[in-house]
Amino acid sequence: MTNQPHPEPTNSTPELFTREFAADPYPAYAWLRDHAPVHRTELPSGVEAWLVTRYADAKQALADQRLSKNPAHHDEPAHAKGKTGIPGERKAELMTHLLNIDPPDHTRLRRLVSKAFTPRRVAEFAPRVQELTDRLIDGFAGRGSADLIHEFAFPLPIYAICDMLGVPREDQDDFRDWAGMMIRHGGGPRGGVARSVKKMRGYLADLIHRKREALPEAPGPGEDLISGLIRASDHGEHLTENEAAAMAFILLFAGFETTVNLIGNGTYALLGRPGQRARLQASLARGERGLLETGVEELLRYDGPVELATWRFATQPLTIGGQDIAPGDPVLVVLAAADRDPERFADPDRLDLARRDNQHLGYGHGIHYCLGAPLARLEGQTALATLLTRLPDLQLAVDSTDLRWRGGLIMRGLRTLPVEFTP
Ligand code: HEM
Repeated sequence: MTNQPHPEPTNSTPELFTREFAADPYPAYAWLRDHAPVHRTELPSGVEAWLVTRYADAKQALADQRLSKNPAHHDEPAHAKGKTGIPGERKAELMTHLLNIDPPDHTRLRRLVSKAFTPRRVAEFAPRVQELTDRLIDGFAGRGSADLIHEFAFPLPIYAICDMLGVPREDQDDFRDWAGMMIRHGGGPRGGVARSVKKMRGYLADLIHRKREALPEAPGPGEDLISGLIRASDHGEHLTENEAAAMAFILLFAGFETTVNLIGNGTYALLGRPGQRARLQASLARGERGLLETGVEELLRYDGPVELATWRFATQPLTIGGQDIAPGDPVLVVLAAADRDPERFADPDRLDLARRDNQHLGYGHGIHYCLGAPLARLEGQTALATLLTRLPDLQLAVDSTDLRWRGGLIMRGLRTLPVEFTP
């Protein structure tokens, strides 16, 4: 399995960001929590940043308003300008979105988008997620084998969010291709990735414009999310077309690779633990939801898709876990390390689908807490329950040591997940 129950102790600072680290970062995180809980390190891009690995420090840092999300606060050395991958260096018009701004702008935009992206709208969408899930499984159920990343975990979230936004079905395969380019080549918007981002943005701007022109006076039942974003108002204030386009883009962007990895990492963790998986299958067969719901939260804690929360920058001197941080310093909160902290979670390296009081940080914490959590839960629960019910003897088709992990800086997930089952 990826995760050793008791990480081997090492005496020196572990190497981070290697291929071995991507396959199993948890021993290195255990070392950091014990020996250097707020640790300054050089990232692969050459930027130096603080890694915060203990649960209590991580939670405090995520809610600390002295840590700004605006990359303009980054005190970047001149030689690294434009090469660090820090988001603000990219086109400003793309990046003015929730994850890159602070109050009061953040408060205003988040309030507006929350009026459109409501838990109720997500709940209404449940039958469609089930239908999509079944259709994707129909595509390989008769074959006896599949790559669950490419044929299942990858297309499900992109079609789901496109549907929810109101992107017509005939255009959704374009989104799948653009998103595929972004996930495969990650990092900065160079070459194909830049073109894909540009096309996606252009398409969304155009769609928003067309929907605004044709918007009926009152919302009808099942109105799509883009119409909801156009309509959303707060004290007479509306989103501009540009803001609505940036918002639609961030919903796609933030809700895509994260959910791919929740389904991928989650399925993989279950396949390696026959006892827990059998208990979940038995509870699903009895028509119960409880273990599925606590189980998906536990999978997020145990091997969540978002390894590090997105960038934060100190705007004034502060101390985290006894460590002084200077203004301009980047701070990365390592959610994956915090969620295995034995000070917070009993037996943290054990997957326990029935875990209670599971206040993991997989969706973040504070004002930037994941806006899409209700949709992610819906997709994660539907995907896992349907897979385990329809393909009850699902198993890995390769040795787990042959699996390759995609370890970007922020996200961590499998490149492929070959499985087999009785057709
Ligand atoms: C923010 C995790 C799915 C939309 C966040 C943050 C985390 C996170 C950790 C906070 C980042 C930070 O503080 O730096 C996840 C995980 C997901 C998931 C683990 C899937 C399992 C989604 C989905 C959507 C979404 C499906 C929307 C369709 C957002 C947005 C924000 C956000 C818009 C920014 C909120 C703000 O800054 O106010 N997510 N996310 N996420 N997420 Fe998610």
